[in-house]
Order: sequence, then C-alpha cells, then structure tokens
Amino acid sequence: MSTIAVIGAGSGLGLAIARTFGRRGFDVALIARTPEKLDILVDQLGQEGIKAAAFPADVMDRSSLTAALERAAARFGGIDVLEYSPAPHTPVSGLTMVTPSETTVDDLQPQVEYNLYGAVTAARAVLPAMREAGAGTLLFTTGGGSVNPIPMLGNVNAAAAALRNWVLNLHNELSGTGVYAAHVAISTWIGANAPEGFPSASPEQIAPIYWMLHEERSHPEHIFTG
Ligand SMILES: NC(=O)c1ccc[n+]([C@@H]2O[C@H](COP(=O)([O-])OP(=O)(O)OC[C@H]3O[C@@H](n4cnc5c(N)ncnc54)[C@H](OP(=O)(O)O)[C@@H]3O)[C@@H](O)[C@H]2O)c1
Repeated sequence: MSTIAVIGAGSGLGLAIARTFGRRGFDVALIARTPEKLDILVDQLGQEGIKAAAFPADVMDRSSLTAALERAAARFGGIDVLEYSPAPHTPVSGLTMVTPSETTVDDLQPQVEYNLYGAVTAARAVLPAMREAGAGTLLFTTGGGSVNPIPMLGNVNAAAAALRNWVLNLHNELSGTGVYAAHVAISTWIGANAPEGFPSASPEQIAPIYWMLHEERSHPEHIFTG
C-alpha cells in the first residue's frame, strides 16, 4: 500500500487531494495544526473506505513537522507522496499581507518560514528514504502570485516565488533518480465566495492535477488557471 502525506490538510484542497489519492489505493497521513479538524477529515475519509490518520503539527514549528512526518512514516511503513499546501484560513501568528513597497523583513520572514522553510523541512524529512528507494513524489502548492505577482500580496508572493524556484531546481536535481518533484501554482480562488470578477474552481476540479503529475512524472510545474 502506498501513502500520501498532505501537509496543510483542510476541508478544501487538502481533503480533495487526500480523496484523489485515497480512491486510488493510497493511505493518507493528514497534517495540520488542529487535531479536532483533522479527526473530522479522518472520519470522512474512513466512511469513504480510505484509511487516513492525523498527525498534528505546525509548519512554523519545524521540529513538530519533522516529528509528524516520522510518525506518519512509521505508522504507514513509509511516505511515497508528499504534498505541501498549508493555507492560513485561521490566523497564523506573524503572517501579514503587504505591498512590495511596504514590505519589511519582519513582514517577509514569517512568510518565508511558512512557505519555503516548512516545505524544505518536509522534503528533508522524507527525501532520504525516497532517494534510497529510487522512488517518490514531492508536490508543492502556491497561489498564482508565485508566477504573476500582484501588489497587494507583495510579501506573500515573494516567499511563494522562493518556494517555486526551489522546487523547480529540486525537480532538475532529482531528474533520473526516480524521485520526482513539481510545483503547482493555482491562479484561481478555491471554492465558493470568490471576490467579484475573480475566477474560481472547486477543490475537486484542481485535485486531479496532482494525480496527473504523480503519474506522468515529467513536468516541473503546472499552472492552474481554471
Ligand atoms: N483558497 C484559495 O482561494 C487559494 C487560492 C490559490 C491557491 N491556494 C493554495 O491552495 C492551498 C490551500 O488549499 P485550500 O485553500 O483549499 O486549503 P485547505 O486544504 O482547505 O486547508 C489548508 C489547511 O492548512 C492548515 N494550516 C494552516 N496553517 C498551518 C500551519 N501553520 N501548519 C500546518 N497546517 C496549517 C489549516 O489547518 P489548521 O488551521 O488546523 O492548521 C487549513 O485547514 C495552499 O497551497 C494555497 O496557497 C489557495
């Protein structure tokens, strides 16, 4: 049995990715901060015949993230696919949104911790076993602003672009090893209540892209535009 670890597992995209892989025979390790919310997702997936378990951790607390991934690997016998997509739908301490000209190091640093350092920490927790096996998939998600930035997200986009750059280069480095890394940029709002004039898509429309990337193992990036 293969296992996917979803980091930033919420009721939107995280759950849809868990379902997409779970329906194809994967066990699912769900990682986010709030145990109660994770337990609801575990129950939901269980009712659909998907074996899932919760491993609470905060991506800003790097040792908790590493420990959660180690527990998940021990529980399921390894991690075959890692997917990174936390989103601060409830407040994350220190995260702000400022324009490029307003950006200070204090505004930027937590975004870098959240986007880049969390992703690097997660990858380092699973990559040695993947390299040894000569197999594995690493998928990282950002908003479309990592590619086409918008002024109101100056600090957010800069940190997401740093993550994107690192993933594209990780993809290059891992070429030929059997381990595959890719970046997904989502240029739409996800779910209902999109701001006026903003394109939106459901999590169910977006999640199959992750399966496609995992199966095809060729593209370094997919930019989802709806
Ligand atoms: N929503 C959008 O409109 C939109 C648009 C473009 C791109 N994206 C991308 O899509 C992904 C998110 O998808 P979604 O919006 O549907 O979210 P989701 O999967 O419904 O939920 C994301 C989960 O991340 C968890 N999280 C937040 N901060 C965390 C932290 N510090 N450590 C660990 N987990 C944390 C939250 O749970 P806890 O609060 O329990 O930690 C939340 O439930 C992100 O990569 C985001 O950049 C979203």
